[in-house]
Amino acid sequence: MSRTSLDAIDIADRTGAWGCMTFFASSSAASPQETPARVALVTGASQGLGLALTRELACRGWVVAMAARHEEQLLAAVAQLEQECPGARLLARRADVSVEADRAALVDAVARRWGRLDLLVHNASALGPVPLPSLLEVPFEAFEPVFRTNVLAPVRLIQLAWPLLEAAPRALVVSVTSDAALEGYPGWGVYGASKAALELVTRTFAHELAGRSVRFVAVDPGDMDTAMHRAAVPDADPSALADPRRVARKMADLAESLLDPSAPPPGPSVPLRVTLGG
Ligand SMILES: NC(=O)c1ccc[n+]([C@@H]2O[C@H](COP(=O)([O-])OP(=O)(O)OC[C@H]3O[C@@H](n4cnc5c(N)ncnc54)[C@H](OP(=O)(O)O)[C@@H]3O)[C@@H](O)[C@H]2O)c1
Repeated sequence: MSRTSLDAIDIADRTGAWGCMTFFASSSAASPQETPARVALVTGASQGLGLALTRELACRGWVVAMAARHEEQLLAAVAQLEQECPGARLLARRADVSVEADRAALVDAVARRWGRLDLLVHNASALGPVPLPSLLEVPFEAFEPVFRTNVLAPVRLIQLAWPLLEAAPRALVVSVTSDAALEGYPGWGVYGASKAALELVTRTFAHELAGRSVRFVAVDPGDMDTAMHRAAVPDADPSALADPRRVARKMADLAESLLDPSAPPPGPSVPLRVTLGG
């Protein structure tokens, strides 16, 4: 389906640039009054794991708000999803999660459309400079944008979306992490440190908010055949890497099992870090 055939364009949100426009795909887009089955917000949803997870959730009947920075790729992703998952209910919005105004507008769009959020996935991520430099040589300025995207954006999105998460009967926040958070791989210091910090804040939210209806988990998807992996390790053998769609299925299964009303409450039996792998 082309952009012009999208049935509803929320022009109330439009301030001149597409960057401020929200559009809804599919004739089954929810009205403000409608309460859909489950609502997810996936950051970095225009390609790679984020797109695969959006597809998986949408095909399972979830309503998915998807965000990324680049318009063309986001539109292409929506068109692809409409082909692969007819009837998908999507809200696509151009947003840079490292920018406060974009974060606020993104959460506001979900609030106005659905008033609740069952699943928030911090998937958008910055890798930092490539080829991957050593910590001794990396330009000091490289840290800030990586930490702004990988750590500060998730914290802020949780703060902003908290009323929506609490409005769901049960909600889950997934922080997409990496084994680089644990291992100290040469060249991966900036990215790895940011993912370690992301895991720490995710764990802290979990402890601080234990007993509430929102749970938190850090998920390591394992090595996947995506643009980010190609940028980091250009000579990797793609056949040795997981298909992000396969990983997305596992992630959706995990989310649905943790959101199941019969699942045990957060506690020692429920891990705060899960490794999926291919
Ligand atoms: N690939 C792997 O092997 C691997 C391994 C372990 C963990 N991970 C983690 O898995 C997640 C997904 O990685 P991937 O490999 O699928 O990445 P990817 O293919 O590079 O896709 C990244 C997505 O995030 C978006 N994005 C990046 N910066 C953003 C920002 N500031 N605001 C909004 N959107 C942004 C990109 O679109 P725009 O550029 O248009 O914004 C794109 O849609 C990441 O958290 C990554 O750290 C990946």
